[in-house]
Amino acid sequence: MWAAGPRQAPMAANPAVPFSPIAADVLNGLSSTPKRLPPRLFYDDAGSALFEQITKLPEYYLTRTERAIFEQHGTEIVEAAAGQGALTMVELGAGSAEKTGVLIDRALRRNLALTYEPVDVSRAALSSAASQLAARWPELPVRPLAADYANGFRLVPNGAHRRLVLWIGSSMGNFEHTEVVRILRNVRRHLHAGEGLLVGADLAPGKSKQVDVVRAAYNDRSGVTARFNLNLLARINRELGGNFDLAAFRHVAEWNPQASAMQIYVQSVRAQQVAIRALGLRVRFLAGERIHTENSYKYAPRQLAAILRSAGFEPRQGWHDERKWFAVMLARAA
Ligand code: AVI
Repeated sequence: MWAAGPRQAPMAANPAVPFSPIAADVLNGLSSTPKRLPPRLFYDDAGSALFEQITKLPEYYLTRTERAIFEQHGTEIVEAAAGQGALTMVELGAGSAEKTGVLIDRALRRNLALTYEPVDVSRAALSSAASQLAARWPELPVRPLAADYANGFRLVPNGAHRRLVLWIGSSMGNFEHTEVVRILRNVRRHLHAGEGLLVGADLAPGKSKQVDVVRAAYNDRSGVTARFNLNLLARINRELGGNFDLAAFRHVAEWNPQASAMQIYVQSVRAQQVAIRALGLRVRFLAGERIHTENSYKYAPRQLAAILRSAGFEPRQGWHDERKWFAVMLARAA
């Protein structure tokens, strides 16, 4: 599947390049065979802005389809999660919290006592989400938490509020299944039995959705996804003093039916060598060699329910759009 690259050559590290939090990931990923970089590296400021553009592309159906489900079924979703009591929505990887606005709106229209707790690694994203929410709903209590939810975090109870953890936007799809279960088990540990989890997942292609629809979502005609993917190399140039020539790499996004995932790579168009000053590393690429940058898993509803069960949740209700392209599932801590 991958062409194996020759061993990497060491080079003297340049102490003038400041330490970057991505250094260890880049060193490990580009020194392994096959080469890989974790998808969390996509999201610097430039990458986050490109992802915002992706969500608005005509081919990228995921965001607007999930939003349509929230618009159509949002009241039912928040009622099923809250009963008649007070509710705290905890959103993992909240980012701009844009789509969650639909659920917040439905909860407030039902006069639920609502608190919103966005969890995100980016303090900048949290403070911009908090100020946008404050402008729209000045009365809404917002308790932001700067944390990496994938690497352990603590959820604190909020008085008599029942909590609903949101892991939406197909975010789980960018983690391996074992990782998804590990993250959800950690969430489960912090919840009381009966509290809720809402996941949003992209459905596997089949009768309802042609595989070409999925392929097109990651190979858009305007090339935004390609820029998003190649921004990873640009980021290494910016933060680690790399000299990747972006024109010498191309974006590749392929459907892997065995894995039920879109698999994303940057591929070297020719044999070349790249230097990364801060790491004291020279990386050799064969012509056609790839760096695996992301998997985006697509699920069958039954598989989704099985994952939730193995993490200690009992699936209660599911919703999908009319075309059955995307699903939202509500589960209770068992
Ligand atoms: C953030 N995540 C759910 C996106 C996805 O669809 O897997 C990331 C993305 N990668 C390329 N396009 C969008």
